[in-house]
Amino acid sequence: MDINLQTEKIKKSKNIEFENKNFKNIEFENIEFQKFKEKWKNCSKCKELVENRTNIVFGDGNPNPKIVFIGEAPGDNEDKKGKAFVGRSGKELDKLLEKINLTRNDVYIMNVLMCRPPKNRNPKSEEIKNCHERFYEQIKTLNPKIIVTLGNFSTQKILETKEPISKLHGKIQKKNELTIIPTFHPATILYSGGNNRKIMEEDFMIIKDFLNNNTNYTK
Ligand code: URA
Repeated sequence: MDINLQTEKIKKSKNIEFENKNFKNIEFENIEFQKFKEKWKNCSKCKELVENRTNIVFGDGNPNPKIVFIGEAPGDNEDKKGKAFVGRSGKELDKLLEKINLTRNDVYIMNVLMCRPPKNRNPKSEEIKNCHERFYEQIKTLNPKIIVTLGNFSTQKILETKEPISKLHGKIQKKNELTIIPTFHPATILYSGGNNRKIMEEDFMIIKDFLNNNTNYTK
């Protein structure tokens, strides 16, 4: 497709309201995002991660999103499939999205790290630093209006704070032109035997209310 025509379509898609079901058909790519992926596809900054990874995981979903969800790092399933949140946590995330009438086709889902830490250990601060440039370049390229951070790692990185997610979840924040809505990581639903589901559903209702009250929300 001609680049100008494609850009025009992307601009139009950004103005479509969230409830518009047509938005669910992804028919346009984001050329800047393609270039971004090309640039980082052989990243070799973290020796241990490079040696252990099967795939670099850029994320999953709509490359022209109004809303981006950010997790921690790929797990085993994500590493094998090359897509974010395709394991058990991903299923929980899908259920939460469904509750507020969203699917992966409406949003983009990415992580603080794009390579799996061995045995799913926590990301090291050095790895987070190594991924910093890629992280912000990816957000800039996806150009969302709203970011939902999932858990401590992405929340603390974006908000540049040490406050725990237990204090920040569900509280809408502004950073420059972006709206940030922190919530827990969906894996906490699994670890808590389902106890965290209600809290996360309440946080997701805050996202829904924000979207409904800001249909003309522009950056
Ligand atoms: N947990 C994450 O933080 N990210 C994924 O992609 C999968 C599980």
